[in-house]
Amino acid sequence: MADPGIPALAPGSTIGILGGGQLGRMLALAAARLGLQCAIYAPEADSCAFDVVRHFTLASYADEAALARFAQSCDVITYEFENVPAATADVLSRYKPVLPHPRVLALTQDRLVEKDFIAALSIPTAPYAAIDSESDIAAAVAKIGLPAVLKTRRLGYDGKGQRMVGKDGDPVSAFRALNSVPCILEGFVAFEREVSVVAARAADGEVVSFDVTENEHRDHILKTSRVPAAVSDRVAAEARHVAESIASAFGYVGVLAVEMFALGSDTGGRVLVNEIAPRVHNSGHWTLDGASVSQFEQHIRAVAGWPLGHPIRHGQVEMTNLIGAEVHGYARWLTEPGTTVHLYGKGEARPGRKMGHVTRVIPDR
Ligand SMILES: Nc1ncnc2c1ncn2[C@@H]1O[C@H](COP(=O)(O)OP(=O)(O)O)[C@@H](O)[C@H]1O
Ligand SMILES: [Mg+2]
Repeated sequence: MADPGIPALAPGSTIGILGGGQLGRMLALAAARLGLQCAIYAPEADSCAFDVVRHFTLASYADEAALARFAQSCDVITYEFENVPAATADVLSRYKPVLPHPRVLALTQDRLVEKDFIAALSIPTAPYAAIDSESDIAAAVAKIGLPAVLKTRRLGYDGKGQRMVGKDGDPVSAFRALNSVPCILEGFVAFEREVSVVAARAADGEVVSFDVTENEHRDHILKTSRVPAAVSDRVAAEARHVAESIASAFGYVGVLAVEMFALGSDTGGRVLVNEIAPRVHNSGHWTLDGASVSQFEQHIRAVAGWPLGHPIRHGQVEMTNLIGAEVHGYARWLTEPGTTVHLYGKGEARPGRKMGHVTRVIPDR
């Protein structure tokens, strides 16, 4: 059923998860349903994933002794965020399998390396050029044109670490505003919609993807996901094919998400890959209530060496994030027909912080 290197875990085994946010929390809950234990490792004392597991480690990602103890208590180790330091993954790999393989981290932590990898698979992206210093800016602008989006190569999320450069904008001040760290300049894509595909790959090479999801962002943060996405069957098939090809090319084990821009039929009707998340993803939260097997369960199954599920969607599904103070209005969703409320148990509802989500399912007639 699995690679010889990845034995199928028996119920009662322990999966270690690096990262203590809501993704780790929902992974641990999914594991619990399958009779598997999770241990969480995170450096933040208020990690909301700690609340749902019996064993957690509160320590820095650089604490080799703590990492070694943690690894020894687990059967396999995975992660809920992509900025796991390479050295942390190396230390853990000395003791136990780390899945998805840490080489995927190196490929997805740097937007330039990631885009080069995607381009090498002949999968289209927005045009892009590297900017390492101010002396690269003129050539990059000449190649890509304006408007464009300047993004730091590393550590960007929820729109942090990027600046829009308008048609008459000043790329030099944008670069300086990003502290002159290495960047890529990306052509601005006048997309028709943003979509994503969450795909799981098992150690035996089987790949199973969820239906294409349509995503709406507000202030660069995901606000709403709807499934099925309002795209043609051809675009949907292409989007799934792209995500499945990326999972196979990585030799991936686990769940990944591929964010894409779907172009209108007037501009070719293609999909361009925006970015890859080597983990469960916010745009897959709808699968918890809207499908027979969730993205979290798929990830747990994959890293446990179990067969993947073959999810069936329960209807049209809409997932809405509760961001910052919006969470205080959770009660109004509790009585909405067909609606499920998820609160992450985080402390302070700071602006921009993902505090929970609600899912609405409308069964197909
Ligand atoms: N090249 C682009 N053209 C148009 N919009 C973009 C482009 N790049 C990013 N965006 C918008 O900004 C959002 C965040 O960018 P993204 O690259 O996904 O970074 P992150 O999610 O890591 O913050 C995207 O979901 C999209 O709405
Ligand atoms: Mg993104």
